[in-house]
Amino acid sequence: MKKAELDTPALVVDLDRLERNIERMKALIAGTGAALRPHVKTHKSPHVARLQIAAGARGVCCAKLAEAQAMADGGIKDLFVTTPVAGEAKLRRAVELARRARLSVVADDEAAIRALSQAAQAGGVGMAVVVEVNVGQDRCGVPPGPQAARLAQLVEKSPGLRFAGLQGYHGRLQGIPAFEPRRAEVRAALDRLMLSAEPLRRHGIECGVLTGGGTGSVALDLELGGLTELQPGSYVYMDSSYGKLAWDARGTPIPFEQSLTILSSVVSRPVKERAVLDVGWKSASADSGPPAVLGLAGAVFEFAGDEHGTLRGIDAMNLRPGDRVELVPSHCDTTVNLYDRIVACRGDEIVDLWPVAARGRSQ
Ligand SMILES: Cc1ncc(COP(=O)(O)O)c(C=O)c1O
Repeated sequence: MKKAELDTPALVVDLDRLERNIERMKALIAGTGAALRPHVKTHKSPHVARLQIAAGARGVCCAKLAEAQAMADGGIKDLFVTTPVAGEAKLRRAVELARRARLSVVADDEAAIRALSQAAQAGGVGMAVVVEVNVGQDRCGVPPGPQAARLAQLVEKSPGLRFAGLQGYHGRLQGIPAFEPRRAEVRAALDRLMLSAEPLRRHGIECGVLTGGGTGSVALDLELGGLTELQPGSYVYMDSSYGKLAWDARGTPIPFEQSLTILSSVVSRPVKERAVLDVGWKSASADSGPPAVLGLAGAVFEFAGDEHGTLRGIDAMNLRPGDRVELVPSHCDTTVNLYDRIVACRGDEIVDLWPVAARGRSQ
């Protein structure tokens, strides 16, 4: 079947571009001494995770335990859940996962560590614990400084748990388009993580991994040093937000290609100034703005409801109902989560359908 025969909206990945992105990330990290553990929150697909592992990734990061369960169902054996585990229901999921995969989880709280230890003991499983440090995101994590070492000591004496290192992830800096301001923020975030790593060393605690970073910081993380494990996610698919990033001081474009698009159809052309597409808030995420329009210079997409979007700037274009328009998501992670499956294409040929297995797995 050809791409042109698909019903729409459809989420499409260009396999050649996806494969090049995976290879580029591999090449970027090769020989640096750092390891790659990509974040699956972007693609939510064990199939893509297997491609990443085949290209040398040591395992994957998952945002949620239920996402990690979907990865374990898909045969992925080394899982790091990058969000703290809290509450009975999540502890049950963690124990269940630890029975069938090598599991690491994040913690930033004494009581949570004790609860994890009790759950691990009761379930007869072992888990690795990574202590999270707030390196500037002001989300989870202990403040930079001695507190992480105190939690690490607690983990070390907690049955069923093993201290595995520190996480310092700063999401907001990833998308800073200009190079120098982003570099300065990455430097500051790494410095904050080191403020927590130093006391560990002083207490004679083996640091294990220092994990963090994303698509926007990966080259800087490598240049500035400190992280031993990198967690980029978006590089496989990319989006129009990351497309604006200056990769270096010369303003070189980001080296990852846009592999993900939304294929849409014109459903109405009531007037020459406006065409209506079958894509609205239910098939393209809006948290980072509207999607961009591929290949139609001057055309601008505006959301026009749950199921509709309008195209403006098209007065002179001969767009008729049934015509196809390809859109570039503004944020790949939240767009992927709107689809049950992704259509894998080589050129115009459909070669596979991949379930978005962890779609909606936000527990
Ligand atoms: C903890 C964590 N690590 C890594 C990533 C991957 O970042 P990116 O998709 O920007 O590469 C994210 C994304 O939100 C994240 O939350």
